Formats: sequence, structure tokens, C-alpha cells
Amino acid sequence: MTHIAVLRGDGIGPEIVEEGLKVLRAAATRFKLDLTFTEALVGGAAYDATGHPLPDATRSLCEGADAVYLGAVGGPKYDKIPDPNLRPERGALLPLRKILGLYANLRPAVLYPALASACPLRADKVVGGFDILVVRELTGGLYFGQPKGWEGDRAVDTCVYTKEEIVRITRVAFESARRRPRKSVMSVDKANVLETSRLWRTTVEEIAKEYPDVTLTHMLVDACAMALCKNPQQFDVILTENLFGDILSDEAAELTGSLGMLPSASLGAGGKGLFEPSHGSAPDIAGTGKANPLATILSGALLLRYSAGAEEAAVAIEQAVERVLGDGFRTADIAGADAPGVLNCTQMGDLVVKYVTNPN
Ligand code: IPM
Ligand code: MG
Repeated sequence: MTHIAVLRGDGIGPEIVEEGLKVLRAAATRFKLDLTFTEALVGGAAYDATGHPLPDATRSLCEGADAVYLGAVGGPKYDKIPDPNLRPERGALLPLRKILGLYANLRPAVLYPALASACPLRADKVVGGFDILVVRELTGGLYFGQPKGWEGDRAVDTCVYTKEEIVRITRVAFESARRRPRKSVMSVDKANVLETSRLWRTTVEEIAKEYPDVTLTHMLVDACAMALCKNPQQFDVILTENLFGDILSDEAAELTGSLGMLPSASLGAGGKGLFEPSHGSAPDIAGTGKANPLATILSGALLLRYSAGAEEAAVAIEQAVERVLGDGFRTADIAGADAPGVLNCTQMGDLVVKYVTNPN
């Protein structure tokens, strides 16, 4: 039995999670999986109802669950909440990561051949597409280091890493690389300036010795930002710390031209995880039916893979999505001029359900 906490959140969150749940239920039926779903409020929706973006009930539901399935949080209305600790991002997302111990954030950035025209780079630079996995450390660095705060006209954030924190995320990156055809890790740091980066680099080198089958290279973060848009095909797994990973994963995602397609998994020890689309709550299109549910649906596949041990069901969802795209179906965000028909959020979910239920 896999207990799943479902947090729809704000903006397009409720509608994309609706489609994700339909697909998970279809996969559960076909593969005889025992999944339970319990919903709770998070983000602005929770703030409006209870005065806190992460109410106690939501927090304990997530602590007791095997996996959290999240839509998105935030919106312009909530950016104005005076106490930053009550805004959805800082009051709900970051504490959830910390409380659940989700130190490893996996963000695939895949340019699907069927969507090659969506990539903002010149076509000849990305022939055959690319497949990058950003492995971002998620509970350390500048986001959580103490002291943090304002003292009059001075503000401080602290960047701290322990060796242990670097060791465990390095292992995640190398284990992931081992399961990929190219078996290579690019560790990204700023070792020419930062002490935490020097510790990062020596630690990564030490752990890499346990993985002789995986190639390790290092790159400085500024050079990496350039290399990503010059030649993204050179990358396989990118391993990096929290803030650099935040920035580089957005850059890599943008290069796919289809942020609405990219899932993400945040994993802790023991298989617990939080699964959510890489994109935000898109309040401008909420309720219009324009949202692309595929990133959320693919996040459901990652949930089955990492937290339910249901690899076959995960692959079935991924193949159903590839088939939908291969057949030419698109939501508005990824529809080129040549798309035969543009589907709304529900229609896209229905189509994936159809292919998951009956792949023939
Ligand atoms: C992300 C987001 C968050 C982060 C924000 C909303 C706190 O940008 O998940 O990448 O910086 O981690
Ligand atoms: Mg980000």
C-alpha cells in the first residue's frame, strides 16, 4: 500500500493534479497497485483558509505519507503577504523539503524529438534532441544556512555545507548516471571563489572513486550557464548545490521549450518523495483549460517509480505520454503552427488515461 498526500495548491495546481490523479488511478487499475490518496490544503489556498500556507494538518499528513503529490503554490496575491515566512514558497515549499528530509532534487530536461521546434536554440545545434538530468542538492546551502535575516540596513544569508550533505547527494547523482547510457556526471561549483565549493569538489572526487564506471568532470557555474546554451548535448547528469541547481535547472528547462512537460522528484532517505511539475502555478491561465497537465502526469510516473516501486506502471505512463505526442496531440503551450488540434487540460488527461489503460 502506498499512501499519497495530494496537495493541489494554487493557480493551475488543482486542474493539473486532477489529470494526474486520473492517470495514476488508471495505472493502479491496470497494474493492480494499492494506492491511497488523501487531500490537504497547501500554499495560498491554505493561507486563505487557515492563515498558514502549511497548516499542521497538512504537515502531519505529509509526514505520515509515503509520497506527496503536489500541484503548484503561489501567485501575485500571496506575494503581498507582509511576513515572508507566511508566503507560499517560504512558508510551505521550503519547510516541506526540510521537514521531510528531501535532499535530492531530480529535474530531467529532455528535448523530445517530436518537440524539437519548441527549442529556442538553432535547430542544427540540437539535432536528435538532448536528455539532461539536473541533480540539485535541496536542503542545504544558502537557502537554509544560519544566520539569515535583516539587521537594519544589512542583510545576511549564509552558505554552509557539511561533507555528509555533499556525500549523499553525490551518491544520488552517480547512481542515476550509472543507469543512463552515457554514464557521466558534470559536477558544477564555484571552486575558484567559494570555500563550500572547494569542499564540494574534493568530496565529489572522493566519492567518484566508488564509481569507476562513471565519468566525472567539473565545471564552474558561470561556464556551465554558457555551455548549456552553446552545446546542451554535451551534458548527461549535472550535479550541483542548491542555488546553482535552482538556476541551472530553469535554464535547462527553458532550452526544452516545454516547461509544461517537465516533472520533478525530491527524494529523501528511505524512498519518501515529493513529486511536482517543474513549472509554477501560472495564475494567468488558471481555470482557462489551457494548462498542460503532462509535467504533473510525468511526475506521477516518477512517484510510482521512486516511492511505490512500480517501475512497469511508471514506464507505461511515460510511454503513453510519448505516444500522445508522437500522434501529434498538443496543449497550447507546445503547439507549433503545424499541430493538428490543440487539446485542453482535461482532454489531454483523458487521452493519456486511454493509452495507459489500453496501450494497444
Ligand atoms: C524551485 C523554486 C523554489 C526554489 C522557490 C519557489 C522557493 O524556484 O523549486 O526551483 O528556489 O527552490
Ligand atoms: Mg526554481
